[in-house]
Amino acid sequence: MSLYNELNYIDGITIIDKEGLILFTVKFNPDIDKKMEESIVGKNLFDVFYNINKSNSSLFECMDKDKLIERKGQYVKNLYVDDSITDNISIPIKHGGLIVGAIELSKVIADYDDNVNELPNDSAVMKLKPKCLNMGYNARYNLDNIICKDKNMVKLVEYAHHVAKSNSPIFITGETGTGKELFANGIHNASNRKDKPFIAQNCSAVPENLLESIFFGTSKGSYTGALDRKGLFEACDGGTLFLDELHCMPLHLQAKLLRAIEDKSARRIGENKERNFDVRIIAATNIKNEEILNKGFIRQDLYYRLSVVKIDIPPLRERLEDIKVLSYYFIKKYNSIFEKNITSISQEVTRFMLNYDWPGNIRELENFIESAILNVSKEKIIIDEKEAKEVNNIFNDDFLKTKSLKNILENTELNLIEEALMISKGNVTKAAEYLEIPRQTLQQKMIKYSTNLKPKS
Ligand SMILES: Nc1ncnc2c1ncn2[C@@H]1O[C@H](COP(=O)(O)OP(=O)(O)OP(=O)(O)O)[C@@H](O)[C@H]1O
Ligand SMILES: [Mg+2]
Repeated sequence: MSLYNELNYIDGITIIDKEGLILFTVKFNPDIDKKMEESIVGKNLFDVFYNINKSNSSLFECMDKDKLIERKGQYVKNLYVDDSITDNISIPIKHGGLIVGAIELSKVIADYDDNVNELPNDSAVMKLKPKCLNMGYNARYNLDNIICKDKNMVKLVEYAHHVAKSNSPIFITGETGTGKELFANGIHNASNRKDKPFIAQNCSAVPENLLESIFFGTSKGSYTGALDRKGLFEACDGGTLFLDELHCMPLHLQAKLLRAIEDKSARRIGENKERNFDVRIIAATNIKNEEILNKGFIRQDLYYRLSVVKIDIPPLRERLEDIKVLSYYFIKKYNSIFEKNITSISQEVTRFMLNYDWPGNIRELENFIESAILNVSKEKIIIDEKEAKEVNNIFNDDFLKTKSLKNILENTELNLIEEALMISKGNVTKAAEYLEIPRQTLQQKMIKYSTNLKPKS
């Protein structure tokens, strides 16, 4: 059923302009101080709801897509009041046919303070509140949302389509920002489980003493004040449980997790009854494949159980074609958000982008384009050196010099000459024969490189 039909009441309204400035907000909650509401007006949405950004905000999505957006289970961290999970309907506001802002009608479905009362009464928990629970109950992306042209990536997406239909567990590896969560979302939505929950749980965000009750649930009376609570497996029945950063889960809990996965059942803490569930596990880590077992991050038995299907997403620097397509995809997106008219990226900046390492991968690339477009003046149509320098301090003349094609070719040539001279023990005639070039040519090159040339030892 659509949220539109389900949302039988609302308890909050927010209106923003197209830049995200809060124009009006009201929470129909007697506990909320009116002054707080007033102080939010005039602030940017992202400063108040500090875990929300342009890519996960339903208010921005409705403006972006120019249509009503229904969002179930948006987790919001609020600077002023407790964190909560809300169901939202967001609608663009137009003037003269142009989008000028958006309005959101929301209903709080879980307030973290309430949850705290249900959890063990210990100070660590009280301090934490369950802010760490990453409770998105639906997967927002499809495999079609994975933009790529690189042939290995195209194959990987095809493979993901193929394996989505099975129930086998999947283990996704890849550096930060390569799209692991995107794949997990996409696989769930391409599977027969798509109408069931998709729950993403980041194992690094939860303290050890809470993880167990989060996964397996609790029963009334298991400790003072404990209530009957479903664990993630129960809550996710029929759906997909995405275990992000699995390597952060303590090893003893990994053993319990394995048992639950193999038995397809588990007991709530403090309860004897086994409860069955049908959950597909997708696990992910940004630890390199070869280090996962070597360094003992993940138990061998659990790893082999979960890695029936392996998806290793290559880093962006190894997907040069993707740098281009993704850049233009993000240009289109941010042109429309910031009302700019960028049509291209200068040759120099392109060279930089193709040679830069992108340690934050696609997330960093998106950020680069977003900041560049934000900085560019309205009349400019090209992202050039000026914007690149402003948004990435690695972009400078030295970087470009060392990464130019000419420079790379010269370095390779220099290396080969050094190697040949080492093999020939400094005999130029023999080195030239080895390189299959005339002796005279080698001598000219040796003069050219005389300042750098040193036989390899
Ligand atoms: N191929 C792609 N096409 C479009 N957007 C992408 C692609 N890959 C990643 N992204 C976007 O980049 C961002 C990072 O992706 P995601 O969160 O899936 O990465 P991750 O591998 O889970 O990172 P982390 O290890 O830091 O959690 C997201 O906003 C995602 O939508
Ligand atoms: Mg992730």
